[in-house]
Amino acid sequence: MQSFTPISEIPKHTGKSISLRGWVYRKREQKEIVFLVLRDASGTVQVACKNIPEAAAATIESSIEIFGEVKEDKRAPGGFEISASKIKIIGLAERFLIGKDLSEEFLRDVRHLWIRSQKLSQIFKVRSAVFQAIREFYTSRGFYEVQSPSFTANAVEGGSTLFEVKFPGKKVFLSQSWQLYAEAMIFSLEKIFTIAPSFRAEKSRTIRHLAEYWHHEMEAAWMGFDELLKFEEDLILFVVNYVLKNCGKELKELGRDTEELKNLRAPFMRMTYEKMLKETGKKWGDDITDAEERELVKKLGGAPIFLTHFPRDMKAFYMRPDPKNPKVVLAADLLLPGVGETTGGSERIENVKDLLDSLKIFKLNKKDYEWYIDLRRYGSVPHSGFGLGIERLVMWLTGAQHIFDTIPFPRTMDRVYP
Ligand code: 4AD
Repeated sequence: MQSFTPISEIPKHTGKSISLRGWVYRKREQKEIVFLVLRDASGTVQVACKNIPEAAAATIESSIEIFGEVKEDKRAPGGFEISASKIKIIGLAERFLIGKDLSEEFLRDVRHLWIRSQKLSQIFKVRSAVFQAIREFYTSRGFYEVQSPSFTANAVEGGSTLFEVKFPGKKVFLSQSWQLYAEAMIFSLEKIFTIAPSFRAEKSRTIRHLAEYWHHEMEAAWMGFDELLKFEEDLILFVVNYVLKNCGKELKELGRDTEELKNLRAPFMRMTYEKMLKETGKKWGDDITDAEERELVKKLGGAPIFLTHFPRDMKAFYMRPDPKNPKVVLAADLLLPGVGETTGGSERIENVKDLLDSLKIFKLNKKDYEWYIDLRRYGSVPHSGFGLGIERLVMWLTGAQHIFDTIPFPRTMDRVYP
C-alpha cells in the first residue's frame, strides 16, 4: 500500500520524494507553472507543478494525491516547497461556495463547508486538546468519569431555560446539567466528573450562549467551598499549561497573544457579590450582565476573578446558604477575560430540613424532587461541585470573538441546520 506523509512531517524528508494527499487550498498560475497550496489536517504546503495538466485542472477544494520532491525554500511559507512530478485528482470540486466577504448568515448556511477554514480548524484542534487535558487531569487524581441521562423530569437551573420534548404521556425535558444525578453517584464513587451536552432554551442572542453546549462538570463528596475554588484553579491552570504545551502552533496561527496564558497564576482574585456592587455602582439584588462581567475583569487587571457569595434568590435551590450570613450562598462564578462567566459552582445543601426549606423558597414541587431529597436521608455528607462551559473556555484560550467559532455545528434557538 502506498504511504502518505502528513504535511507537518515534510521537514523530515528534505531532498527525498514523498506522496502527499489532501485538498487544494489555494491556486495560482504563473506561465507554465501552477502553484497549489495543499492542506491536510496537519498543515499546509506550497506545491510547484511544472507542465502537469492535472494541476491546471484541479479546482479549489478538489481532493488530490501528489508525488514530488521536498525542497527547502526560505521564501516558501513554512520554509519548504514540493516540486511535484505527478498529481492525481481524487475528487474534482465544483466551484467552491466560500470566498471573501460573505455574510455571517450565508456562512452559517454553509457551515458544513466553512468548517474546513484554517481558523476554525485551529480552534477545533485546541478544543480537542481541552477534552484531553480535562480527562488527564481527573484520571490522574483518581476521579471516575460518569454519565447521566439527557431526558429528565426535573429542572436543575430554573424553569426559564428548559427545553420540553415530546415524550408520550410525560412531561420531559432535555438536561440542563448532570448535577442532581452526580449528587446521587458520589455516594458510591465519591469523586466524579463528566463531559456531556447540556441544553438551554436561551432566549437572548449573545456572543457566549448556545442552546446545546458541552458541559464539563465535577462533583466530590467531603469537599467544602474553599477547597472547591482551589480545585477549579488547579484545573484551569492544568488545561492552560496543557494547551500551551500541545497547541503552540495553533495559538500562533490564530494570533493569540499567549503572554496572558503564560502569566496565569493561582490563587485567582476572589470578590464577593457585595464588593462587586461597590465596584460597579449597583445595588443589592441587581444582576451583572455579560458585558459588565467582561468590563469588570478588564478594569481589575484582566486576570480571572471568582465572584462569590451571591444572594440566595439569584442562584439555584441546591446551593448551601453561608452559615455566617444565610442571605448569601456558598457559590462562585469564575469570570474569564473577554468571556465572563465560564464556571458556576457551589457547596450543596447537606441536610433534609434545609433542602425542604429551599424547595419552598424556590416554589419547587417537593414531589418532583423526592429522589433527590432521599440523598440527604441516607448518609449525607458535605459535598461540592461545579460546571464549566467548554466553548467558553475555548473562546478564552483561542481568543475567539464568538462562541459559534468554538463548536463545529452551533445550535441556537433559531438554527438547527445544517
Ligand atoms: O452556571 P451553570 O448554569 O451551572 C450549572 O449548570 C451547575 N449545575 C453546574 C454544577 O455545579 N455542576 O452552568 C455552568 C456553566 C456556565 O458557567 C457556563 O460556562 C456554561 O455552563 N453555560 C453555557 N455555555 C454556553 N451556552 C449556554 N447557554 C450556557 N449556559 C451555561
